[in-house]
Amino acid sequence: MAKLTHHVKTGHRRRRSNPAISCDNSISQQTEASAAMSNLATTPLHTIDLIRKKRDGLALDPREIAHLVSGAADGSIPLEQLSAWLMAAFLRGLSLDETRSLTLAMRDSGEKFDPSPLGKIAVDKHSTGGVGDKTSFLVAPIAAACGLAVPMISGRALGHTGGTLDKLESIPGYRTALTLSEFETVLARCGASIVGQTPSLVPADRVLYALRDRTATVESPGLICASILSKKLAAGLDALVLDVKTGSGAFLREQKDAEYLAALMVATAEAAGTRTVALLTDMGQPLGRAAGNWIEIMECLELLRGNRPAESEDLRELSLVLAGWMIHLGGQADMAEDGCRRAEGALEDGSALRVFLEMVAAQGGDIRAFDDPSGFHRPGETVVVEAWESGYITAMDTTKIGWAVQRTGAGRERAGEPVDPHAGIEFHARRGARVERGQPMAVIYATTEAMLQEPSELLREAITISTTKPELVPLVSQIFTRENAESHLRNAIR
Ligand code: URA
Repeated sequence: MAKLTHHVKTGHRRRRSNPAISCDNSISQQTEASAAMSNLATTPLHTIDLIRKKRDGLALDPREIAHLVSGAADGSIPLEQLSAWLMAAFLRGLSLDETRSLTLAMRDSGEKFDPSPLGKIAVDKHSTGGVGDKTSFLVAPIAAACGLAVPMISGRALGHTGGTLDKLESIPGYRTALTLSEFETVLARCGASIVGQTPSLVPADRVLYALRDRTATVESPGLICASILSKKLAAGLDALVLDVKTGSGAFLREQKDAEYLAALMVATAEAAGTRTVALLTDMGQPLGRAAGNWIEIMECLELLRGNRPAESEDLRELSLVLAGWMIHLGGQADMAEDGCRRAEGALEDGSALRVFLEMVAAQGGDIRAFDDPSGFHRPGETVVVEAWESGYITAMDTTKIGWAVQRTGAGRERAGEPVDPHAGIEFHARRGARVERGQPMAVIYATTEAMLQEPSELLREAITISTTKPELVPLVSQIFTRENAESHLRNAIR
């Protein structure tokens, strides 16, 4: 594949998607021509008409979508009307054109970050969320060490999955709430910065996401796509690598749903001018050894220091594959495989570690905590979970494991609650491993003694031990690029 150049990217921005591609639930669509005509219309829009139109299975045009998005961002549309429209969109589905219009209108609903003064190609990675999913702490410094800018705007723990910001905030002093100008300063100095969303970045998503959470309208491919991509595109990215999880710990457990979302996000982001690939990756067990906050940072630090513990090998491999694609799409390698080799070089020569330490220090983190991890790591209570019988670990209900991690104190019950930086679970046996009765399988770190019991019970329910060795599950099962995403959407029966 050719190297990414600004010339190629500009060409992308002008590209239009195929209007013949079917929409969710095969709803009838407007053509781009009729959408353009509607765009010219000057008649005032009434929110109730747009709700009725969507309720009746018709597609909204870009001007109508923009009306809803600006009304969400500035508070001029009441929440009950936004909720009604969200439910109509959830039940009727959004066409590809609607999804694209919604993504762009949300992207433009507030302040945006312009990475061009950095003079580097801006690349990011986004994961749909999982348990022990900590690749951001590896791929961001690796890609920066390979000459790219990585402006990463991340989120907090959601449901059973952990949050990048909560993990980073376990480092004493680390600030995730930077202004856009502080963000730019860290990026200019270190090449990578991982922060939270500012209040003015994509304000429409702030309102719509909170409403979706309360109205059971989260699991809609079009709404998920617009929510994720609007925030990524507002960061001014040239290229984006999406890690779409499948399996027992993913939000979309079914392979075909994950495939559809992956293809939809690739087609939508490419149509908006951002080079994008999506990898479908296994979340049928926690990624790596640790799931929690500080213990996840320490697992990554070990890999950044060049060590290769066997229990972290899947984390290392996935991080190198994702970083390889970032490096390739960012024009620093002709092929993703070459990018992967460069990524490995940045782990082995210490350059990625240097970027990580510089970034942490630039954001106020005290890197001395890394020198004496056992002195700093003081979990309230600890218990070892031993195998209750001999056999092979054949399956893991990773969503249940995610809830077990949350109940140690590492996650929160309600938005805004503090999390325990030291809580979490370390796994010492992977799916497919042979275990003997009494062998330590996991260590639980909880805030209080009373908080050890529920995670222990959940782990026992979540892990299946039996006599037959399970088949290996590939870490990466599928890759969607601009070359295959649209045809996948065209053929998908929804
Ligand atoms: N993450 C987001 O940011 N939005 C969604 O809709 C789902 C996951």
